[in-house]
Amino acid sequence: MTLTLPPRTPSAADPDSSREDYVNHLDELAQQAEARAAARQHPAGKLTARERLSQLLDPMSFQEIGQFAGGNVGKDFLGAAVITGHGTINGRRVAVYAQDFSVRGGTLGRAEGDKILHLLDVALEMKIPIIALLDSGGARIQDGVVALTQYGRIFRKTCQASGVVPQLSLILGPCAGGAVYSPALTDFIIMTRDNSHMFVTGPDVVKAVTGEVVSFEDLGGAELHNFQSGVAHYLADSEADALEYARALLSYLPSNCEERPPSYAYEPVAQELVNSAALDSLVPASSRQPYDMVEVIRHLVDHGEFVEVQEMFARNIVVGFACLEGTPVGIVANQPMFDAGTLDVDASEKASRFVRFCDAFGIPIITLVDVPGYRPGTEQEQAGIIRRGAKMIFAYANAQVPMVTVVLRKAYGGAYIVMGSKSLGADMNFAWPGAEVAVMGADGAVSIMHRRELKAAEEAGEDVEALRAQLVQRYTEESVNPNLCVSEGEFDAIITPSQTRQALIDSLALLTTKDLQYDGKKRHDNGPL
Ligand code: HXC
Repeated sequence: MTLTLPPRTPSAADPDSSREDYVNHLDELAQQAEARAAARQHPAGKLTARERLSQLLDPMSFQEIGQFAGGNVGKDFLGAAVITGHGTINGRRVAVYAQDFSVRGGTLGRAEGDKILHLLDVALEMKIPIIALLDSGGARIQDGVVALTQYGRIFRKTCQASGVVPQLSLILGPCAGGAVYSPALTDFIIMTRDNSHMFVTGPDVVKAVTGEVVSFEDLGGAELHNFQSGVAHYLADSEADALEYARALLSYLPSNCEERPPSYAYEPVAQELVNSAALDSLVPASSRQPYDMVEVIRHLVDHGEFVEVQEMFARNIVVGFACLEGTPVGIVANQPMFDAGTLDVDASEKASRFVRFCDAFGIPIITLVDVPGYRPGTEQEQAGIIRRGAKMIFAYANAQVPMVTVVLRKAYGGAYIVMGSKSLGADMNFAWPGAEVAVMGADGAVSIMHRRELKAAEEAGEDVEALRAQLVQRYTEESVNPNLCVSEGEFDAIITPSQTRQALIDSLALLTTKDLQYDGKKRHDNGPL
């Protein structure tokens, strides 16, 4: 077939050029821009925005939107400081924008704001996840209020998209000023160990205002936000690691709140039987001996694959994604390795937001319980354990997704209730034999229930400690066991550790048709908690 070209129209760049020349001219501009970007980024140990996009997306899948928008292609072309478009990850479409630090420090002005806002609109219309690759000095100072307003519009659109499509932010350079709230409103933040920073006010401003001298690292480095502040959800060793984690995370998520999470063909493997059997001896019987809950999770899920979220923050609780017979689930579990798995303000917020996310996107929640209670003391009360702990109850009590809970060893007091108990709405609840469930531990309970008796014994000069030991033993035998839970219907069955994987799979199969009560644009948002 011969292709007849329509009549030539002169280009702004070169009125005498043919169409082909004009395309070549644009290609040349793009190549120059990329060379400039490489010269700026590579010495700093960073990839260019385009290199990042090609590593994130499936090969050749990127389709750019408005490649030359925001730049004067006729004269001194620099381009906008953001690249927008869409592509696929493991064959599934995503919308993506990558800030280009080589253009005016990746800052956001009118053109960049317009491009990002348009992309967010496209993502909402197509109902596809949004991934932001951030590397920017924030609002462009020269653009004044226009830049601030564009951020405001992005914030608003991000909130509208919250709970409709998954939103991921990768911090691959600076993210400064109020601009940090753009990723903070998204579902997951991934930071690279070197080069990424997030702070509302930079070291210079801090010094000018308060006199405090602080490094970029200590003020907003990736370790700070992963270990301490809880702002970030993953600490990546490199940009490649950050991009790979984003791809892995997405493989567990549906593209939008109307879709079911992706499910994978599953062939049973012998190793899973071995893993299940190993569970019988993995968890020490004594409830005071620690063990690694992540190991337990790996013994329960398909191929031992568990993608942990916020691994470094509030390590007394573990959250993350895995599959059971090919179906993605969100897992919330106490971690006896850290602080004996007690609940505190940080653990409560970490688990709450994760439960809210899973519920917004129809991902079933598995809760594995081994919790001695809330961490007592003034530090926690002052930090607002009442206000912040309530978020966890709110998250579980409002969740509509299938919820299956297993009490592995112990579950005391309020912590028993908030960790996915039946009364908060879990669909199926199990316990391992010997599970300890009670209002409080034996020592505390005896001190309260037998206060007078113990005081009288003390005044009579009797052996108070022997009496206390006797009372503790009686309380433990009579009250610290699953009997009351079973007869009250709190547990649907007592299962052995090696039966747990199958019990979870059977429960989820039963719950596949559960009404998720979705009757609008979204179930609910995933607001920052
Ligand atoms: C305009 C900016 C800029 C900004 C950086 N640049 N930040 N231009 N507005 N906000 C420009 C620099 O002038 C420079 O231009 C280029 O980007 C690269 O910056 P460098 O400083 O040379 O790079 P580096 O040493 O790597 O330091 C990067 C940086 C630093 C840490 C980001 O530039 C910095 O601290 N910038 C200010 C960050 C900040 O406070 N932003 C807050 C803005 S307020 P040339 O031409 O020399 O290459 C905000 C509020 C949002 O974002 C509103 C929400 C409601």
